[in-house]
Amino acid sequence: MTTSPTDAGPVEGAHLKAGPVEQRRILATAIPGPRSKLLHQRKVSAVSAGVGTVLPVYVERAGGGILVDVDGNHLIDFGSGIAVTTVGSSAPRVVSAVQTQVEDFTHTCFMVTPYEEYVAVCERLNELTPGDGEKRSALFNSGSEAVENAVKIARVFTGRTAIVTFDHAYHGRTNLTMAMTAKNMPYKQGFGPFAGEIYRVPMAYPYRWPTGAEHCADEAFEVFVSQVHTQVGEQNTAAVVIEPIQGEGGFIVPPAGYLRRIADWCAEHGILLVADEIQTGFCRTGDWFACEHEGVVPDLITTAKGIAGGLPLAAVTGRADVMDSVHGGGLGGTYGGNPVACAAALGAIETMQAEDLCGRAREIEALFLRRLRALADKFDVIGDIRGRGAMLAIELVTGGDGASSRTPNAALAGAVNAYCHSQGVVTLTAGTFGNVIRFLPPLSAGDRLLHEGLDVLEQAFAARA
Ligand SMILES: Cc1ncc(COP(=O)(O)O)c(C=O)c1O
Repeated sequence: MTTSPTDAGPVEGAHLKAGPVEQRRILATAIPGPRSKLLHQRKVSAVSAGVGTVLPVYVERAGGGILVDVDGNHLIDFGSGIAVTTVGSSAPRVVSAVQTQVEDFTHTCFMVTPYEEYVAVCERLNELTPGDGEKRSALFNSGSEAVENAVKIARVFTGRTAIVTFDHAYHGRTNLTMAMTAKNMPYKQGFGPFAGEIYRVPMAYPYRWPTGAEHCADEAFEVFVSQVHTQVGEQNTAAVVIEPIQGEGGFIVPPAGYLRRIADWCAEHGILLVADEIQTGFCRTGDWFACEHEGVVPDLITTAKGIAGGLPLAAVTGRADVMDSVHGGGLGGTYGGNPVACAAALGAIETMQAEDLCGRAREIEALFLRRLRALADKFDVIGDIRGRGAMLAIELVTGGDGASSRTPNAALAGAVNAYCHSQGVVTLTAGTFGNVIRFLPPLSAGDRLLHEGLDVLEQAFAARA
């Protein structure tokens, strides 16, 4: 069993100048405090209104499971900057690798004069991702860019153009990935026309499957097969792109066996299976990658977020024959695989291994599930609890008896979220209907802190439900 990392005291190693970040919630002012409010006024005057803010507290330092704002508030982090700081913010190995790299050199462009760090990250990805066959990787800057490149590679390899995606999917905000993303507001509204040759099929969403969760796996697979056959044509389909657990769509976990059947069907038809593990990857779900839970080996896998402990890095990893099918110079970009981001990734991966963060994610799952189930027993507005590892969510509904009891309750999700924020716990919502509260704590957060955050969540339900 791994130890709860930071209950023992402040996080050591990082923050040498300011000292370790104290691992407790401190409300020094109202949230947001006066300094944050002043900064927010500057933000409104300087930053495009299109760039939203979930909680306008301005962060000065972070570490373990705590964000410290400019007013001295210590907030419990249940979001990890949307599943990024899995190893914790400024994790010591990441800080030290980055410092060394910054002093050595900051950029050459890998396509001009390459460097070892990029190659080392690709080697690590090829080893760690599912499947024993020969693999290759290519590095990029953002998750969206990784998904775009997976599509490019799949099209070249197969000579086909159609891409199949799912209801509730989120794959990014570039033109192609917006087309692949399901939800209109706020991601797509007014930004069209979108890229073509993207086809959407229903997702296996057990809680909302029309004939009941017990029929979801079989029926969702049948609908998938039938729609791709009749509306797209297997012979035209380059890839099926799926999040093994959907992220922004509301942490939707497909029923056991569903992914496996999709993978087998893809193989039968020469279609590539692309697992978008940008949110689920790197220990988040209790395995290195969520596909492993189902024993599925995708042809290509996209990663980002947790890969580099907070620095921008993304990757496509997959079968060597697929990855090598692209003509020389067809993949790349000025910054893709920046040496500082690569150094950070090597530090983050080392941390995950040294601290058994997959094991820690499973411990967090057990702790959260106990608390969330107890909460659901008290409040029937919690319609569903789902997720895996340290990627868990509750879906809020109107509750009570009758047919409308599963009606999405976005207003309550908003109210609970706002209450948590006001009490110094950074929670995030998700879901096509805006009625899901998701939990993505850093795996460096200690049990005591997690319990305290969950106490606040419980108070939020008592106050708002
Ligand atoms: C599953 C998934 N794919 C792609 C993306 C896009 O990544 P980025 O925001 O780095 O472009 C995200 C971001 O939330 C994601 O969760």
